[in-house]
Amino acid sequence: MSAKKIQSIAVLTSGGDAPGMNCAIRAVVRTSVSQGIKVFGIQRGYSGLLNDEIHEMDARSVGNIIQRGGTILQTSRCPEFHEKEARRKAVEILKKRNIDALIVIGGNGSFAGAYTLFQEHQFPVIGIPGTIDNDVFGSDYTIGFDTAVQTAMEAVDKVRDTAASHKRNFFVEVMGRKSEAIALHVGVCSGAEFIVFPHKGIDYEKIHQNLKRGIDSGKQASIVIVQEGEKPGKSYEISETLYEKYGLKSHVCILGHTQRGGKPTAIDRFIASKMGFDSIHALMEGNYPSVSTFCSGKVTMKPFEDCVGVRDPYDQPYGDLAKELSI
Ligand code: F6P
Repeated sequence: MSAKKIQSIAVLTSGGDAPGMNCAIRAVVRTSVSQGIKVFGIQRGYSGLLNDEIHEMDARSVGNIIQRGGTILQTSRCPEFHEKEARRKAVEILKKRNIDALIVIGGNGSFAGAYTLFQEHQFPVIGIPGTIDNDVFGSDYTIGFDTAVQTAMEAVDKVRDTAASHKRNFFVEVMGRKSEAIALHVGVCSGAEFIVFPHKGIDYEKIHQNLKRGIDSGKQASIVIVQEGEKPGKSYEISETLYEKYGLKSHVCILGHTQRGGKPTAIDRFIASKMGFDSIHALMEGNYPSVSTFCSGKVTMKPFEDCVGVRDPYDQPYGDLAKELSI
């Protein structure tokens, strides 16, 4: 808890864009305006902050964006912000503009930057979890996840039409460099026969046995979901290896950035709106540094220090769920 009266704030989006980020920006801006707080938008995340790409916003600046994917503030990944000197410069720029607090909408890397800013300079910060990966430490949910899963699930439904019509096996690769969440949820929701997490090692024999069991029991086609992992495209290698080892033919479909775009779902719009609103009220109450999390079904503010870290592996009990339902 801290006591500085907040009169002026800035908001930025950082890391990969996610559907619903615009809803959070809108809520931050409109709540600030309603409460008599001056609000600034920072373009292109921390990169834009270091370049002083800052402009004042008002209620009209966020009109007609609630339904739009991406982020009107644009975003970036900013390796420079790992350096102490860059963070010193960022605080200098914010102070020069009389900005009292910074709201960061992003994932784990963006949160680490924000929290370090507070630790080094006591600059008031608030985090809003925004990434399709749903892997922010300390929150059960991140803005954009529901939309991304919905997009990927609908794509798999379409692929299934072709798979069934041609009696084909498909490897459908979904996003998630370090996170299993999209693969698991899409696997369950699209009735996948198998889910591959490359970082856990690829058990070709197991994939083959699984698909063969399906064929032997009368399945016409199979869908395997592959988590993207470190580098997109792993599915091609898996498909080729299965052919070489077992003569098993398959096709590959990589969903890629289609999963990051598009209209946010109602869940993403609602949670993002509440997170943006709560963040401004937290600042007004002196409740910072903190993060607007989603825990046990509710949007709840948490101390920032509880939201910096690496989330536990995600696969239980969902891994078992996907497996048992795929027979
Ligand atoms: O934003 C998260 C994420 O979409 C990951 O799931 C994915 O692996 C990564 O970003 C891709 O990042 P980029 O768009 O910078 O290639």
